[in-house]
Amino acid sequence: MSLFGRIFLLNAIVLVVAGAALLLGPVTVSTPVLLTEVLIVGAGVLVVLVANAVLLRVSLAPLHRLTRAMSTTDLLKPVPRLPARGRGEVAELIRTFNAMLDRLEAERGSSAARALSAQEAERRRVAQELHDEVGQTLTAVLLELKRVADHADEDVRQELHQVQETTRSSLDEIRRIARRLRPGVLEELGLTSALKALAAESTITVKRRIDPDIPPLDPQVELVIYRVAQEGLTNTARHSRATRAELHLMVDDDAIVLLVRDNGRGLGDSPEGAGIRGMRERALLVGAQLDLTSGAGGGTEVCLRVPVRELERR
Ligand SMILES: Nc1ncnc2c1ncn2[C@@H]1O[C@H](COP(=O)(O)OP(=O)(O)OP(=O)(O)O)[C@@H](O)[C@H]1O
Ligand SMILES: [Mg+2]
Repeated sequence: MSLFGRIFLLNAIVLVVAGAALLLGPVTVSTPVLLTEVLIVGAGVLVVLVANAVLLRVSLAPLHRLTRAMSTTDLLKPVPRLPARGRGEVAELIRTFNAMLDRLEAERGSSAARALSAQEAERRRVAQELHDEVGQTLTAVLLELKRVADHADEDVRQELHQVQETTRSSLDEIRRIARRLRPGVLEELGLTSALKALAAESTITVKRRIDPDIPPLDPQVELVIYRVAQEGLTNTARHSRATRAELHLMVDDDAIVLLVRDNGRGLGDSPEGAGIRGMRERALLVGAQLDLTSGAGGGTEVCLRVPVRELERR
């Protein structure tokens, strides 16, 4: 029934019942009105108002649910759809809202895919330039320093050795940054070795357990798993004050599951930043579920579940 029809019918029922009670009941109203009559009519009006309020609330409940869903929807998490029964305006509104969510999710998915692939391309370019330009220049500087040092006096040579050492460690740092920007190991050696390298590079002790029977995955899925592990471990090192972390990659029933766990101070109620938003966007991209929880004994757990169904569809 339409919203207008519903409200009209509710009011009509309440008024007809009240009118019938007035006509058929033992109520009389004299002039001037008596106190008992005021009390009886007052009580009647109160009952009518309460009945009206209750019925209106019940019939407008779907609208309240819709408003709540509209104001709390977060497209970075899977959004459950509201049930829409019947043919009235409210059901129509809910169906339109659900259709709008479908469109927004599709649009969000494709724009996230574009943004992330642009980001990967940009990282690749910066990594390439760091390696080819800055890396080459520093290598040339190192060779030049060595040549000058070979002809220098003993005390100058000592100082030049110092400069050589600094330059060499800068070169190592640049190579490390370039490697992080472009997960070359992922392309060359595969996900397992890339994750091992990530764990080994971390500034805190990372215990890793990687199932040997991980099936071959789509390159995009591998990149998502790698980037989520990378951000998880970076966050652990930066924010958690943990002493230990764990990195697990396993097959669980119908999904590939990545777990990054630490024994630090937990997420608390710190707001999500670009890092966690990036993880969510990447997860959506491959139809995966991402959960961040604070563990029972403190610490943080990042869990990424890529359903195998998703993998087979690719
Ligand atoms: N493992 C963790 N332990 C404790 N707090 C964490 C952990 N991971 C994230 N946080 C909290 O969540 C916040 C948001 O993390 P997020 O990765 O989104 O942003 P960020 O690391 O601050 O910045 P960036 O955009 O460089 O990643 C952090 O500032 C931190 O307070
Ligand atoms: Mg971060």
